Amino acid sequence: MNFLEAKILADGVVKPGNVLKVDSFLNHQIDIRLMKKIGEEIKRRFSDVEFNKVLTIESSGIAIASAVAYVNEIPVVFAKKGQTVNSTDDKYVAKAYSFTHKKYNEIFVSKPYVKPTDKILIVDDFLADGEASAALIDLVKQAHAELVGVGIAIEKGMQPGGAKLRAAGVRLESLAIVESMDAESGFIQFREQES
Ligand code: G4P
Ligand code: NA
Ligand code: NA
Repeated sequence: MNFLEAKILADGVVKPGNVLKVDSFLNHQIDIRLMKKIGEEIKRRFSDVEFNKVLTIESSGIAIASAVAYVNEIPVVFAKKGQTVNSTDDKYVAKAYSFTHKKYNEIFVSKPYVKPTDKILIVDDFLADGEASAALIDLVKQAHAELVGVGIAIEKGMQPGGAKLRAAGVRLESLAIVESMDAESGFIQFREQES
């Protein structure tokens, strides 16, 4: 078991509807020592590839993406969310479907922050249905930047996001992959991974 899996078992709370609450260390209060370790571990897993920028989406991706950027001493850009963003000459805009709200949300970045010369590592706290990652990849493509990979803290292996990205040939590294969980007993099972 790695340090993040251990932290999830110690302090994560399984809620009905396959929701893993990690408010005490990731989504509300942020454990900065843990962020540093996550940043270092994502850096290690992508140590064979070059990237010069981290891209995430507001809001809960920012802390972990900042940790990855910090240990690599590179900038982090976060895509912003809007209800309906008017496409303008100065923004790239992508749609992300929200299963929670049953509607499309738009996300955008200002063009100067994602350039054709950028080698981008996408980082997020959760990978569930993969809508956020797909929208971020869309932004990278629109900018004609290079996508180096996707680094995730917690992948929910019972939802299709990870399988979709892997099938699309995207290099994906998830530090913890939850294979199954049960709200009543609090049981959480992780997928075995090579470390
Ligand atoms: P995606 O990120 O793979 O597209 O996932 P999806 O659309 O299914 O999830 C919507 C939101 O819920 C995302 O945050 C995602 O990080 C979060 N999420 C999904 N499953 C869980 C879970 O089990 N536990 C927790 N804590 N979060 C989960 P968001 O709507 O983009 O919001 P924000 O918090 O970043 O503002
Ligand atoms: Na979130
Ligand atoms: Na997120």
